[in-house]
This record gives sequence, structure tokens and C-alpha cells, in this order.
Amino acid sequence: MEIFHISAECYPVAKVGGLADVVGALPKYQKAAGHNVRVVIPGYDTKFRNENDFECVHWGTVKLGNFNFPFSVLKETTDKLGYELYLIEINELFNRPNVYGYEDDIERFLSFQIAALDWIIARSKVPDVINCHDHHTGLIPFLLQFAYKYEDLKDVKTVLTIHNGLYQGWFGFDKLYYLPEFDLKHVGFLEWNNSINSLAVGVKCANAVTTVSPSYLNEINYAANGLEDLFKSVSNKSKGILNGIDTEIWNPFKDQMIAFNYSSETFELGKQKNKEKLCEQFELDPSKPLFSFIGRLFEEKGGDLLPQAAALALSENFENINILILGSGNAVIEDQLQQLRNDYTGNYNVFIGYNEDLAHLIYAGSDFILMPSRVEPCGLNQMYALRYGTVPIVRRTGGLRDTVIDFGDDGNGICHDQASVGDICYSINRAIGLFADKESFNKIILRGMTTDHSWEKVCEEYIKIYNLINSAK
Ligand code: GLC
Repeated sequence: MEIFHISAECYPVAKVGGLADVVGALPKYQKAAGHNVRVVIPGYDTKFRNENDFECVHWGTVKLGNFNFPFSVLKETTDKLGYELYLIEINELFNRPNVYGYEDDIERFLSFQIAALDWIIARSKVPDVINCHDHHTGLIPFLLQFAYKYEDLKDVKTVLTIHNGLYQGWFGFDKLYYLPEFDLKHVGFLEWNNSINSLAVGVKCANAVTTVSPSYLNEINYAANGLEDLFKSVSNKSKGILNGIDTEIWNPFKDQMIAFNYSSETFELGKQKNKEKLCEQFELDPSKPLFSFIGRLFEEKGGDLLPQAAALALSENFENINILILGSGNAVIEDQLQQLRNDYTGNYNVFIGYNEDLAHLIYAGSDFILMPSRVEPCGLNQMYALRYGTVPIVRRTGGLRDTVIDFGDDGNGICHDQASVGDICYSINRAIGLFADKESFNKIILRGMTTDHSWEKVCEEYIKIYNLINSAK
């Protein structure tokens, strides 16, 4: 099958969050299963872009209303990623260091989608399926079906995978003229709540919609930032598919980014060694249980609860635990977390920013990982943690509900229901008790380390959907 993945992020080329990890992994496993897989993302000014070789395979001009942006399509020349990677370079819009957060994000991602389709239609081979990811690519299913200039692609099937339904990429009808010409009788597909809502457009027009976990699919029928009714109405073409993890990158036995490799047979020693390295780096005490958080510091991830929860857990149990935080996001939360360092030196530390190597070491060296998310469409960190023998402490929501079962129910982690400081601290207390009971603790660690969350299984589910929508031609 000829498969295209079109996305705003892809690890290791450009990463902000889990979207990148998925788009960097799923295609690799689809390719290994015998399909022709291409990944298309914008050409940002990133380290990967600057340090690798590319060849130009196409160039043109994107027309966005009255604006004309020259673009080129660059193909990565080695086969090291396990699939073909293409960057859509539109220098005026993407030759910048960050993926998102610019005033012209709407113009940027609309141009990206149009340029990608301009290139795909210029190729001699028509793909069997285009898998779009999140709202940045939500207009593609609409454009393929209705824009006159893509007439020859109108039978190409599309899947929209939703990694996060909170962000929807909406804009006013005053920008309607940006879109390539289409028969105006279809304009209704663009509209949601008097705006053009990119995510809603994709949900309406794609042949199939997937979410990154089954529980999240249920949840968005009740909480989806205004799109609940829309999601209910497309239940017959929707499916929740739990993400996998890239077990080649996330393998404590081979991981080059950690201090000491280990397997499910040697995890006690291995984790201790990594913990010592981590504790030395952050001035923590390796004899005490280490609770870590890795992620974006936003309310969605429960980031706002962290400063208070950490302060409470450290003051009640001072001397008993360590807390380490790696992340960035909301400036107020960042400040509060940095302040805490003064009060709890020796038991607490924070690294504001993101560092992939450090993240790996934290998974390897921590005892528990905190994921107090309010919303978590899938969550990959709990799966990385499980594989590294680190017990996840999660709020039951979305993919966390599907992957972490409380140890009280013979599970692999610790769960609570409320997004509150009280619930987090209650779980931390249970964790301290568990940590003291080495036999039970090790049993739970082992259960996590031996769970299979590899993509091999999951990738088949996507192929089934691609086949299903293609057979309905
Ligand atoms: C988004 C979601 C996260 C999910 C990831 C990959 O970042 O917030 O829950 O794991 O996408 O699908």
C-alpha cells in the first residue's frame, strides 16, 4: 500500500510532544510490514534539518489567497529513519526554530497543507491513503474531495488521527479566500460554530477518524472543547487505537542515553546505578524513593497542580522522598517550580526545558513517574516508564486509564480519579508504602517491564482501517 503520513511533527526531526514520537515510529513499522510509507512535515530550522543531507525532489509556489510562497520538497537521502522523510520547505513561513506559537500559524499550516497536496498531485503515483495527524492537517480531507485543482486525487482515502482534540486550529471566514477554489455548495463542511474549524473539517471529511486510545474516544463524546456532538455523530467511522512505543529507541537494555543498561532480569542493579547518576546530577539522595515528572507544564497535563503537590509531599514527608521535574510551559508554573528549589534543596530539583537524553536517564533512574493529567489522549510517558521499570502514578483518564491498572487490582501502577493536589499526595503516600515493601514493589515493576506495548501489533490496526476504507470505494 502507498501510505502518506502528513503531520506538523516527527521525531527526531522536529518534536514538541508525543505527536512527534508517534509519527516517527508508526511509519517505520508500517514500512517494515511491507508498505510504501512516506512522512511529510514542514521544513523547520531544526538541528536534524541542518545536520542531514536532503535532495530537492519538487518545487513550486503555494498560492494562499493573494500571497505566493515559493516552496521546495526535500527528501532525506539516507534510509536511516526506516521510511521516506520529506520536508516541505517554505522559507518565509517555516525557516524558524519553533514548530508552533507564531501569529501566522494559520497561514503557515494552510500553506503547508496546500504545498503538500500540490506536490502529491504532481507525482505520477496516487497514494492509497493519506493519514493526517491533528488539526494542522485537518483541511486535507476537505481539499482532496472538493478543491477543483485536486480533482485527480478525489478518490484518495483519508484518515484523521486525533492526538489532541483540545487544539482545533480555527479561523474566521474572512480567510476563506486562502483556500484553493472549490464548489461553494460544500462550504458547510468547513463550518463549526461560525468559524472554520480545521479539526472539525477533518473529522467531517475524513473517511475514518482515529483517536490514540479507546478511552479517549469515549471521553470526547462528553468533553471535546465544543466538538462533542460532532464526535457523537461520526461514531460509525471512528476507532480508538492505543499508541505503541518505539521499542528500539525505548529499550533499557540498549539505550545509549542512560548510564547503565539493564533488562527485566537485572533491573534492580541497573536502576540503582542510573538513579545514582541522576541523583548526583541533581543533588538528590539515591537512598530515597524518587518521583519524577516529565512533560509540558500546562493545566492539561496537571502541571498547575505540581508545585503545591510537591510542596505538600515534601513537607509532610521531608527527608523521605525526592522529586525531580523536567519540563517547560506556563511561565507561572515554571516560576513556582523553580522557587521550590530554595525550600527543599537536597530533596527536590527542576530542569526547565526539554532534553531527550535527560528524559531517558530520568525514566531509567526514577522509582515513580507522576502523570496527574486532566486530559491525556494516550500518553506515552507511562509506557516508557513501564518499560524502564518505573512505576506510573496516574490520574485515570484517556490512555492512562487504558494502560495503567492500580496495584491494588493486581496492576502495574498507582491510580487516582481526581485532578487534585489531595489525590496526587494520597497516591504518593501509597507509593512510599509500596517502595518500602521491596518484594511487592519488584513484582509490580516486573509486571510493567514485561508488558508488550510495541508498535508491531498496533500498526496492523491502522492497516486494517486503510483496507476497510479502500474496499468501500
Ligand atoms: C498528544 C497527546 C498525548 C498522546 C500524544 C501522541 O501529545 O496529548 O496524550 O500520547 O499526542 O499520540
